[in-house]
Amino acid sequence: MSQRELWATRIGLILAMAGNAVGMGNFLRFPAQAAKNGGGAFIIPYFIALILMGVPLMWLEWSMGKIGAREKRHTTISIFEVLWKNPISKYLGSIGVSLTMMFVVYYMVIESWTLMYTFFSIKGSFMNVGSIENMRNFLYQFQGVESGEFFSSDLTMLLGWIIIVAINVYILYRGVSQGIEKLAYIAMPLLILFAIILVIRVFTLGTPDPSVPENSVQSGLAWLYNPDFSKLAFFSVWLAAAGQIFYTLSIGQGTVQTYASYAPEKQDVALTGLTTASTNEFCEVVLGGSIAIPVAVAYFGIQTTMLIAQKGSFDIGFVAMPIIFTKIPLGALFGAIWFLLLFFAGLTSSVALTSPFIAFLREKFGLNRTKAVLLTGIILFLFGLPNALFIKFGYLDQYDFWIGTVALVVFALIEVIVYAWIYGGEKMWEELTGNADIRIPRIFYYVIKYIVPLYLIILLSGWLYQDLSSDKSEILLKGIEEEKIPYIWLARISLISFFLFVAVLIKIPFRKKEEANEA
Ligand code: ALA
Repeated sequence: MSQRELWATRIGLILAMAGNAVGMGNFLRFPAQAAKNGGGAFIIPYFIALILMGVPLMWLEWSMGKIGAREKRHTTISIFEVLWKNPISKYLGSIGVSLTMMFVVYYMVIESWTLMYTFFSIKGSFMNVGSIENMRNFLYQFQGVESGEFFSSDLTMLLGWIIIVAINVYILYRGVSQGIEKLAYIAMPLLILFAIILVIRVFTLGTPDPSVPENSVQSGLAWLYNPDFSKLAFFSVWLAAAGQIFYTLSIGQGTVQTYASYAPEKQDVALTGLTTASTNEFCEVVLGGSIAIPVAVAYFGIQTTMLIAQKGSFDIGFVAMPIIFTKIPLGALFGAIWFLLLFFAGLTSSVALTSPFIAFLREKFGLNRTKAVLLTGIILFLFGLPNALFIKFGYLDQYDFWIGTVALVVFALIEVIVYAWIYGGEKMWEELTGNADIRIPRIFYYVIKYIVPLYLIILLSGWLYQDLSSDKSEILLKGIEEEKIPYIWLARISLISFFLFVAVLIKIPFRKKEEANEA
């Protein structure tokens, strides 16, 4: 008899779902985005996006997964077929599976850096590097962007990436309860412990250079949390804040639905969804907001911290932080804790991001877990390799832009239309509030049905207008170095090919469907 995969315990599900959300985005991307967008100016649109889109979409996606649990369907492809009896629905649903897979191929590359930097910290590789400039050279040489005295080739990075793909494949091969859930039981408490250790270390730093008293941990915190209303007129800040909410909560993708579909049919979406979002926000704002920014401001001051963040999304985590580790006692130890924290955060998210595609292969072709994971591993390798190799040509940035920023918002819009409008607002509300231990205020019905799509449409059209009319248009590749252009097109073509590939797979008739969910 076929046996559907299930989480072993409710707490396991919650930990895994929190692991899905809490990722490198919380500790690496959030501080970088906040610093880049002016600290307190960022935090207001951030919280507005959290309440008006983040939490509602978390509920919405979780309740889609609940339908999946009932109907024994595990991807947005097959769940969309239930929501909308139209041949087009499965193709729309396939965007959730494809984008999640294309997300993880570049996410794993970044994850591999965290693992390698953990080793570098333990070995003391960057302890004598010195200035910000040199630390940046260290990072760029490691990434293969430059060559020089620290790394003569990108073999070290490639080795780290292969190890990361192998670790992910192994956990996924072990399955939902034996692999992902067990990982969450170990990684989540460790991650929070590491973050708390770092927060305590940061809060006891005070003012590192008494001759510059304005550079302190306190001023870093004040900069982040004092609302700066003057910047609210900038559309780009609203866009960045909304983008961060999508990225950090892992919404607008197919992961929440797939994870929730492995839970029992009668699940409380309201409370568990809210718990996941709150855990994520605790890890992001309270813990993530109390490490990199305050410590960077204490050592470099607000202006330099902003400049570091503007230079590159990874510079706060991989340039500013390592410099600080060279300056504090037991820096190697704290460095290892910082990068290990990022590694655990990344790993629990990357296994989640890979799950929908595995579920798709099993559901569609009746493959057993081993075969599905093996095929997925090959795709991770094929699509990940150029992301690892062509960083200097902006290949990974293209993936991050189209998938990590644009596609999440587009797919969220599709989800709301299919679920709250086509399937029906009242039916959606019933799914969302049934079996609930807490009462979701009715106002959220209107938020989900009207505000969320409106917000998303305004964001998308505002962004399109802003980008197309800018002389630095990312879409039209304005102001991009000539040598990068072929690689950028290669990245774009590879993305389109994968979306088409999944759509073609859907067209192949079902075989052995009944075996699809065998453990
Ligand atoms: N939600 C995951 C993160 O924050 C993807 O990194």
